[in-house]
Amino acid sequence: MDDRKTAEAIAAKIAEAGGRAYYVGGCVRDKLLKRPCKDLDIEVYGIPADALETLLSAFGNVLTVGKSFGIFKLEHSSLDIALPRTEEKTGEGHRAFLTSADPYLPPETASSRRDFTVNALMEDVLSGEIHDYHNGLKDLGKGVLRHVNDASFSEDPLRVLRAARFAAQLGFEVAEETRELCRKIDLTSLSRERVEGETEKALLSAEPDRYFEELRKMEQLKDYYAELGNGPFFSEKALALREEAKEPVLYMLGILCSGIAGKQRNTFLHRFLTKKYELKELKNWTYEDLPDKTALFEKLDQLTCPEDYVLVLCALYPEKEKEYRKLGDEWQIFLQQEHITGEDLFKLGYTPGKELGSLLKEIRKKEYTRSKEEILEELKK
Ligand code: CTP
Repeated sequence: MDDRKTAEAIAAKIAEAGGRAYYVGGCVRDKLLKRPCKDLDIEVYGIPADALETLLSAFGNVLTVGKSFGIFKLEHSSLDIALPRTEEKTGEGHRAFLTSADPYLPPETASSRRDFTVNALMEDVLSGEIHDYHNGLKDLGKGVLRHVNDASFSEDPLRVLRAARFAAQLGFEVAEETRELCRKIDLTSLSRERVEGETEKALLSAEPDRYFEELRKMEQLKDYYAELGNGPFFSEKALALREEAKEPVLYMLGILCSGIAGKQRNTFLHRFLTKKYELKELKNWTYEDLPDKTALFEKLDQLTCPEDYVLVLCALYPEKEKEYRKLGDEWQIFLQQEHITGEDLFKLGYTPGKELGSLLKEIRKKEYTRSKEEILEELKK
């Protein structure tokens, strides 16, 4: 059964038990925008947590995310089922909340804790009727991200980044009143992981530059992206090549870093990047024009993702794209070739030792442009 059908069957049982089920959050927004959505979030009113859990168990294995919060997941589905809840901030950081589930909370109150009006829409699972307590439909039509409530919005600083990220993903404008509020929110308590998550989504969005532009308008580049100069950072060419990247986030970070002077790049990346592999790889990426085969191959030899590095160079030097692509292909062929090993050198009478290691390194560089046979012949002399 597809997940919406399962949701309808669950909603019918809920109705029989005297409750009501609504789709909430991103899945309502995305359906109205005719965009794909990954998760179906459902909020259930009028049924206590225990009774809801029993009811859900008839549909599969129920994973309890937070029983006291009344959040359940139906295994092997994209369904998240929750009771309406109130959240009260108890300190700094995104975990410092006192959350209480209350099945009898009025939907209008429950939806007012959501970030943006377009994310606060509710859709009755059975009737398809939209409940719009905060003028979300109007904002959706105009393409505007507007916060629902001053006090609750400011309780989670991630929402500042979310505003910019949704703007980049949906091509929406952030309402001036929301920008104004965002200017006053302190982002320093956010964890690197959360900033990284929003950055990645923004870099993979339709308009990545919009993310940074919005944050600039909100005067919120200072804590995590201070080293960035003035955008735009991504040309049309750069965005088109993203489609070919093996690791699109890495590729986009490479382009973003290309405008930041050497030493500052590391400082910049460490603020929001947690993945060691990406940090290490980006440290090795340099951005000068390298159309000389030996220079380029020497660089590619140090990398784990040379394919994406070549794409970055194509994006930065579009007039040399053909040349770079050709060299990139030659590099792949080079990797497949048989290379000179220590064994080959022993056969020529070389003895093991430190020097052999350095000699092999030198030989590797020669191999970029010359054949194995030719080099071995030379080594005999
Ligand atoms: N939400 C919120 N504040 C947050 C995170 C989430 O108000 N900091 C609410 C919003 O109503 C949001 C819903 O919870 O629509 C689901 O959150 P999430 O899955 O993070 O966002 P989506 O809107 O579904 O979008 P996406 O999955 O693309 O992030």
